[in-house]
Amino acid sequence: MADLTTTFIGITSPNPFWLASAPPTDKEYNVRRAFEAGWGGVVWKTLGSEGPPVVNVNGPRYGAIYGADRRLLGLNNIELITDRDLFTNLEEIKRVKADYPDRAIIVSLMVPCEEEAWKAILPLVEDTGADGIELNFGCPHGMSERGMGAAVGQVPEYIEMVTRWCKQYYSKPVIVKLTPNITDVRKPAAAARRGGADAVSLINTINSITSVNLDSMSPEPSIDGKGTHGGYCGPAVKPIAMSMVSEIARAQETAGMPISGIGGVTTWRDAAEFMALGCGNVQVCTAAMTYGFKIVQEMISGLSQWMDEKGFENTTDFVGMAVPNTTDWQYLNLNYIAKAKIDQDLCISCGRCFAACEDTSHQAIAMSEDRTFSVIDAECVACNLCVNVCPVENCITMEPMAVGEVDPRTDRVVDSEYANWTMHPNNPSATAAE
Ligand SMILES: Cc1cc2nc3c(=O)[nH]c(=O)nc-3n(C[C@H](O)[C@H](O)[C@H](O)COP(=O)(O)O)c2cc1C
Ligand code: SF4
Ligand code: SF4
Repeated sequence: MADLTTTFIGITSPNPFWLASAPPTDKEYNVRRAFEAGWGGVVWKTLGSEGPPVVNVNGPRYGAIYGADRRLLGLNNIELITDRDLFTNLEEIKRVKADYPDRAIIVSLMVPCEEEAWKAILPLVEDTGADGIELNFGCPHGMSERGMGAAVGQVPEYIEMVTRWCKQYYSKPVIVKLTPNITDVRKPAAAARRGGADAVSLINTINSITSVNLDSMSPEPSIDGKGTHGGYCGPAVKPIAMSMVSEIARAQETAGMPISGIGGVTTWRDAAEFMALGCGNVQVCTAAMTYGFKIVQEMISGLSQWMDEKGFENTTDFVGMAVPNTTDWQYLNLNYIAKAKIDQDLCISCGRCFAACEDTSHQAIAMSEDRTFSVIDAECVACNLCVNVCPVENCITMEPMAVGEVDPRTDRVVDSEYANWTMHPNNPSATAAE
């Protein structure tokens, strides 16, 4: 049976599923229950400097985007870092770590961008026996207006500087949590590496306004008639997070850097995908907030079963396996040709594929008088739109054409040779094969 034990930057946990720094990890009560449910580790809700606790709003702090079945797809929040006393948190962390030595506890931190502030808090964290720290350079609201969170994460020089202080005043692993509210995520990741970070984690939440109340004319969540942007997370952000992860995994200046993947992880499959793109483990917030701590049991059993099926004994067997297959557009094989195919036994004649292809693609689906839908190979460019709009899974599939066949759309014979844009005759700067 597959062994889910994961060692990430020297920190061992019984499985790769950690709770991300957020309400699920805000206090001892939650974290104990999370560990009892089976979570491999937690990143404690972000702690700030000693002093008067942070003040949250007293009205709604969430907004949501739903699917048609009211399943939560995206969550927006305007919550700040912990509003509980620093020393209460530290005592709780110490107690929980002592009782669960086999689980990972990482302490998330956000203090002002001054050496003295980091120098003051790091020994206190070291004292708790926690396994490492995560620098919250990602919170996009509230704290960023005070020069912390994303305000630091958007300036590579600050990231490098603070990371260096942390490596100087703290002896255990340092993870830098990145903000997605930036154009090129490779730059902050490279800065973290230069500063000596042991790993990066991403993504924190994305700037968002989920809805506008058209009666009060204010963004929601609305606090006494006024709203503000919040941070977006949940299944909707997974594609953005995975793209950013893959950029870091592929870039020369950050390749090989340990990554903890965050953003919309809800199932074992999501986790496996992040890990295939190079993440040593994953962190989860919204799924736990939506379905409760026991969702980790599904993740554990699903991942374990899949690993058995694939013959993977350890998570390291598949971490990063998809990285070499993630490339730039210009290197895609232009000699690969496919056609859409409709399975008439599965088709319910809804006509969605027809409408989509007829109005917005290549007029490659024919509809007969009795509403039988079929693909016209001579028009189909294999764009895949019909597959994506069809409500019946596997009803439309994309079938690759065999080498030697003639594509009726172009009259060209399907070539066995790989040929990409860099070698294409239409490319003015075409060179040789890559
Ligand atoms: C209500 C809420 C509070 C959060 N607070 C923090 C925080 O204090 N520190 C932090 O680093 N990230 C915080 N996050 C971001 C999460 O740790 C995580 O990066 C993000 O939610 C994406 O993961 P998900 O899609 O699994 O939710 C918070 C998220 C939510 C929803
Ligand atoms: S793959 Fe694209 S072009 Fe082909 S039938 Fe489907 S929608 Fe039309
Ligand atoms: S969208 Fe799917 S189910 Fe609907 S007509 Fe097309 S193939 Fe059939």
